[in-house]
Amino acid sequence: MMGLNKKLAFLKKKEIICGFSKLSKNQKLALISTHFENPAEFIKEMKSFFHDDPEKQKIFDEFSENTISNFYFPYGIAPNFLIDGKVYHVPMVIEESSVVAAASKSAKFWSDNGGFHTEIISTVKIGQVHFIWNGNVDKLRSLMPDLKERLIESTRHITSNMEQRGGGILDIELVDKTDDIQDYFQLKVTFETIDSMGANFINTCLEEFAVELKSFFIESPYFTGKEKDCEIIMSILSNYTPDCIVTAFVECNLENLGIMDDELTGEQFAWKFEKAVRIAQIDTYRATTHNKGIFNGIDAIALATGNDFRAVGACGHTYASRNGKYTSLTDIKVENGKFHYQLTMPLYLGTVGGLTNLHPLAKKSLELLGNPNAKDLMRIAASVGLANNFAAIKSLVTKGIQKGHMKMHLLNILNQFDATDEEKEKAKEYFYEKKVMYNAVESFLKSLRNPIQHKKIIYAGK
Ligand code: MEV
Repeated sequence: MMGLNKKLAFLKKKEIICGFSKLSKNQKLALISTHFENPAEFIKEMKSFFHDDPEKQKIFDEFSENTISNFYFPYGIAPNFLIDGKVYHVPMVIEESSVVAAASKSAKFWSDNGGFHTEIISTVKIGQVHFIWNGNVDKLRSLMPDLKERLIESTRHITSNMEQRGGGILDIELVDKTDDIQDYFQLKVTFETIDSMGANFINTCLEEFAVELKSFFIESPYFTGKEKDCEIIMSILSNYTPDCIVTAFVECNLENLGIMDDELTGEQFAWKFEKAVRIAQIDTYRATTHNKGIFNGIDAIALATGNDFRAVGACGHTYASRNGKYTSLTDIKVENGKFHYQLTMPLYLGTVGGLTNLHPLAKKSLELLGNPNAKDLMRIAASVGLANNFAAIKSLVTKGIQKGHMKMHLLNILNQFDATDEEKEKAKEYFYEKKVMYNAVESFLKSLRNPIQHKKIIYAGK
C-alpha cells in the first residue's frame, strides 16, 4: 500500500486537479488550456464552438458537468423511409462517413420494393432491488402477496400519473439467487412506461421499494431474530429488456435484387447475401461487426432523438447472446422466389422526458418524424438498423465496403490537409474512378500544390 505522503506526491506529479467542478466555465477553460502549448489558441478554438445565443449555450452547459465547450457531430437526414405504409425522413447524428448514405440508398431501394414492415412484440421494462437476507424463503414466498400490495401502495404517489397514461408497475417477483451468492435475493419488478424511457420513474420506484422492504421485515410479526435484518445492496433498473422487442422486415421477389450488382443475378445476389447472414449467425467475430452495422443506424437515430444509445447498445448486444453464444440480430429466408430479411431486437426508446424534449435538436428530430410515440420510434429505429445492415451486406458481397467508404472518406482526408474547395473538386474528379487511399490523396494534393517539386520527389523515390 502507498503511504499518504507518497500518494499525495504521486497525485501532484500526475497534476491532479482539486475542486475543478467549483470553478467557473472560464476558469475551467483557463486551467485546461495550461495543458496545451498555446493556451490562448486552445481557448479560442474551444470558444469558437460556443453557441451564439447564450441562452441556448446554457442549455448545453447544464446537460452535464464540467463542460468547457460543445463537441459537434454531423446531423444528417436519410430520406424516404417507407415504414408500414408511411414515409419518414430520418434524422441521424453520426460522424462515420457512409452511414447516412448507406441508410438513404437502402431506404430508396426498399421504398420501391414494398418498404419496411414492423411489429411491436412487447414493451416491458425491468428493475431490480438486490438484497441480502437470511431467513425462511418459503415463509417469504407465502407473504409475497402482502408484500407486493405494500410495495405498490408505497409508490402510489409516484405511479399515479404513469397509471393515468396507461402505464405503471406490472408485477413484482421474488427471485431466489442463494445458489449463486449466499443469502442473495432480488425483487424483480416489471414496468410499462408508455412513451418515456422511464429510467427516473423506475429507479425512484425501486428506491422506494427498498425502504418499504426493509420496514416489512422489521414490522412483520412473521419474522423473528435475524430474519428481521435485510441488507439492501442496490436498487436499479436493468438495461436488459428482452421483453421490449420490435421486429422489422423487408421482402421482395428475387429478380428485384438483380439491380444490386452488374455481375450477379437477383438469385445469385440473394444466395451470397444469405451466406453472409448465416456466417454472422455462427461466427462471433463476424456477428459483432454485423451487429455493429445495425447499431450504426440505431445509435444515429437514438442520438438524434435524445435517447440513451449506450443503454440501447448494451441491451442489444446482451440480447444477441441470449442463447449463450453471441449471434446476429438478423435472420433471413430465401425461398419460393422470395427474399425475406428481418431484424428482431430489444429497443428501449422514449419520446417524452429526458433529453428528448430538452435538447433543441432532439425536439426537432421528433417533430420531423411526426412526433411519434415510443412504439413508432422503435419501429423507425429498427427499420433504420435493418437498412444500414442491408446496405453493408450488399456492399460486402458485391463490390466490397472500401470503395464506397473511402469515396465518402475522401473529404475527411482532404480536410486533414486543409484542402481548398477548388482542390476538393479536383480531387473528387480525379478519384472518381480511382481507389481512394490516404497516401494517394496526399500525393495528389502535393502534385496539385507543387507540380514540379512533386515530380522530383516521385522521381527520387523511384
Ligand atoms: C462499418 O461501420 C460497419 C460494417 O463493418 C458492418 C458490416 O461489416 O456488416 C460495414
